[in-house]
Amino acid sequence: MEVVICANPKEMAQRSARLIADVLNAKPNAVLGMATGSTPLGLYQELVRMHRAEGLDFSQVTTFNLDEYVGLSPQHEQSYHFFMQQNFFQHVNIPPQNVYIPSGTTSNCRAFCDWYERRIKECGGIDVQILGIGSDGHIAFNEPGSSLMSRTRLKTLAKSTIDDNARFFASRGDVPIYAITMGVGTILEARQCVLLANGGNKARAIAQAVEGPVTSMITASALQLHPSVQVFVDAAAAGELSMREYYQWIQKNKPGAPRMG
Ligand code: GLP
Repeated sequence: MEVVICANPKEMAQRSARLIADVLNAKPNAVLGMATGSTPLGLYQELVRMHRAEGLDFSQVTTFNLDEYVGLSPQHEQSYHFFMQQNFFQHVNIPPQNVYIPSGTTSNCRAFCDWYERRIKECGGIDVQILGIGSDGHIAFNEPGSSLMSRTRLKTLAKSTIDDNARFFASRGDVPIYAITMGVGTILEARQCVLLANGGNKARAIAQAVEGPVTSMITASALQLHPSVQVFVDAAAAGELSMREYYQWIQKNKPGAPRMG
């Protein structure tokens, strides 16, 4: 994993957006894996800015979102469909037929999940997967104990996740307890992964994901098995990384590194 420690969330958003823009410039019809939550908001704002100010083009892009709450319609303000529409899709030029988000209202979860996995493959696989991290170390809604080989499926949310996400709902009782989520195995098949985290409440999860043992108890730690992962963190989220200085040393010396070919 390449760990990039940023001064603040703004720099984190700018650097991760530059990475996505570079992918799109090299491959205009790239397949992007999208994440929700407060963490990627800055990245989305920066991509929207690049679209408007620099003509960053999304007209050939396809997207697959990581997850969705079961029971929420796309119009529900806390659904991830609504979140993506409000915060990203309505501001850029991705053709609506190229947007895939797990259904929160399907009557046949298993068939839907199998179809979702198939669509990802038919579209050529995900080029770059954007990820946040839960305070319990989860990626998407792969809660502690999820198989590191798991595929898109129905998942029961952990109580800690329901607590974390209750702030977005009128009451804790309104938070759905099930979700459809890409599996860890699905995520690991993306060609590149970008993990974002800011704030001190993510410091422990980031340290466990980056430096801890690979374990299904911290599903983000499975990213250690992936050959191309960039981790963008602000100083607070980097707070518990024991190799912090080494990561900064690597970034400092990167421009002078010999070319590999
Ligand atoms: C939810 C989402 C995750 C996200 C996490 C953290 O659990 N399913 O994809 O990473 O929240 O959210 P936030 O960025 O708001 O801290």
